[in-house]
Amino acid sequence: MEGDPISSLCTPALVVDINIVKKNAERMIERFKNLGVQLRPHMKTHKTIECADIMTGGSRRCIVVSTLAEACFYADHGFEDILYAYSVPFDKVEHCAALSERLDLFQVLLDHSDALEQLKKRPLQEGRLWHVWLKLDCGNGRAGVLHSGPESLKLAQAIHAAEGVELTGIYAHCGNTYNCKGVEQIQVVAQETTTLTLQFMERLKTVGITCKSSIGSTPSCSHPVKDMAQLSEVHPGNFVFYDVQQITIGSCSLEDVAVRVLTRVIGHSPHRNQLLIDCGWTGLSLDGGGKLPSGYAVVEGHPALKLLSMTQEHGRLEPISGKLDYSKYPLGTMLKLIPYHSCATAVMHPTYYVHSNDRLVGKWTPTRGW
Ligand SMILES: Cc1ncc(COP(=O)(O)O)c(C=O)c1O
Repeated sequence: MEGDPISSLCTPALVVDINIVKKNAERMIERFKNLGVQLRPHMKTHKTIECADIMTGGSRRCIVVSTLAEACFYADHGFEDILYAYSVPFDKVEHCAALSERLDLFQVLLDHSDALEQLKKRPLQEGRLWHVWLKLDCGNGRAGVLHSGPESLKLAQAIHAAEGVELTGIYAHCGNTYNCKGVEQIQVVAQETTTLTLQFMERLKTVGITCKSSIGSTPSCSHPVKDMAQLSEVHPGNFVFYDVQQITIGSCSLEDVAVRVLTRVIGHSPHRNQLLIDCGWTGLSLDGGGKLPSGYAVVEGHPALKLLSMTQEHGRLEPISGKLDYSKYPLGTMLKLIPYHSCATAVMHPTYYVHSNDRLVGKWTPTRGW
């Protein structure tokens, strides 16, 4: 298969442009090296060893994961310094303990005193410490203890004081950058999250605690503000693939998007002015809700087409306006869909087909599950 054109693949198929992946990774590594901030890339977008090697510059150190399946997968492949940045699930404490006892450095995250109690109930062997990040909510409105109230400081102090536990760092995820349009708005949110996190670090200092700080998302790390240089780490992930959502937000441009879903025309429906393709939501996901002017994805090179709807294995394409010219789309025609959200699309595929200039150079197999 190596050397064959991507047009030889059975569809639907997720194809990854290795040259764009490398360029995206190198650019992010360089950007934060220049700022003097440690890049701890998130693995959630691709969940593969090969891409992790590219994102860590081959060091196999200093990564973030969002599932225990990812944590075990990377640990089994010799990765170290893994941060499981998901409010520690109680059913998985024992697994986390095993990873903490096996690796040089495995780190967990929490945002509630009950979770701290769970860790205290399971002391690690050989005098090892639980390395704990406190998750702060700086406006993202998902996980995390509110940055400003007394609770956050109290919890940080409790982690710091707990026997067998170390307060390793403060983690704030500025996922609210996903509501932004344009660099200016992204930088307002990036600045806000940075300022609130740094203010919290100052509050910690007043009670004699120092530890690391980390914020980040692909939009904020694609356009960092100066003050982010005062953080210890950043943790973006999606940037390695990017997608249409990131273009819409203003994080990147079309030439930075590394992934496509290949699909073929499998039906003509002139009575509905539509085409049928062999990519349904199992090949693309429904993320984005079809809100783009082009529906659920962008059809590369065909700006007049809209992916109107999908069922499990079928997609319906129609022209944004006017009558469809079926002579342009004979059955079997291959089309390239640029995904709205590459994390959601990639997770639908058991294999990624890697190419350079449309010639296959390999296959990547991601880990799956939680
Ligand atoms: C906790 C956490 N950290 C880091 C990231 C990486 O952010 P992004 O996907 O914007 O690169 C995510 C993404 O959802 C996340 O949930």
